[in-house]
Amino acid sequence: MPKRVRTAVFPVAGLGTRFLPATKAMPKEMLTVVDRPLIQYAVDEAREAGIEHFVFVTGRNKGVIEDHFDRQFELETTLETRGKEAALAELRKELPSAGRTSFTRQQEPLGLGHAVWCARDIVGDNPFALLLPDMVFRAQPGVLKQMMEAYEETGGNIVGVEECDPSEVSSYGIIERGEGSDKGFRITGMVEKPKVGEAPSNLFISGRYILQPEIFTLLSEQEKGAGGEIQITDSMQALMKQQPFTGVKYDGKVFDCGSKLGFLTANVVFALDRDDIRPGFLAELRKLDLSDRL
Ligand code: G1P
Repeated sequence: MPKRVRTAVFPVAGLGTRFLPATKAMPKEMLTVVDRPLIQYAVDEAREAGIEHFVFVTGRNKGVIEDHFDRQFELETTLETRGKEAALAELRKELPSAGRTSFTRQQEPLGLGHAVWCARDIVGDNPFALLLPDMVFRAQPGVLKQMMEAYEETGGNIVGVEECDPSEVSSYGIIERGEGSDKGFRITGMVEKPKVGEAPSNLFISGRYILQPEIFTLLSEQEKGAGGEIQITDSMQALMKQQPFTGVKYDGKVFDCGSKLGFLTANVVFALDRDDIRPGFLAELRKLDLSDRL
């Protein structure tokens, strides 16, 4: 049995420049898809997969994320007084238990690999999950849970992947697929943001990873890569020389909520998925004459 994965790391230090001015004072991870902030989707997915400790790598202007995962006594009292039991229960359900969150800061924007490295002391000598909160999934069960099933079989390192259009490979980390089934195949190589036509496949890394702690040593020595940033993909490629990497082509679909298109699409799709919202939402859309826009 491989060592259990109890800890998840959430890099939330990014500046969110693609969403300015919305993200001038508010962290992009607090943007909402329907009625939940992006970060909440990632935390819920991790909890569903059995994660017990939630590590956030934050930066300046991100204090509200810490508040979001704390109790809010004034609000709770007001909801109680007003008899809003359902809202109260929902709030309490979403909270990690006391002592099960950690916050550390990435002091300089040196890249995703550097952000992950900032969590090394908190994670210690343990395997951990890494979730990029911009990436929100429509998947049942959640993507990390599907990856945990592969991890229990194979141990080592696990990377979630999905197919993209070959024209989009230069936006992502792309893997080279070896032997095995969709639910667990050998990864034989990976490259961060390859040029179109030079990618080893159209399977992109969609922001969910299970990694062994040896990655931290490699990250501490990692040279800058694509975009002049320290890239987790480059350190994973180096770790592949010592340890196996398994790919999981999960059931589900990702919405890249770090882009306006992905974010807007996720809002529409998730709203249409909700029984309490779909009828009213469709009725409102039908009332508008959008035919010249569609
Ligand atoms: C990061 C990773 C990349 C991955 C992507 C998913 O890139 O480096 O491998 O495919 O997230 O969103 P970024 O989006 O930070 O440029």
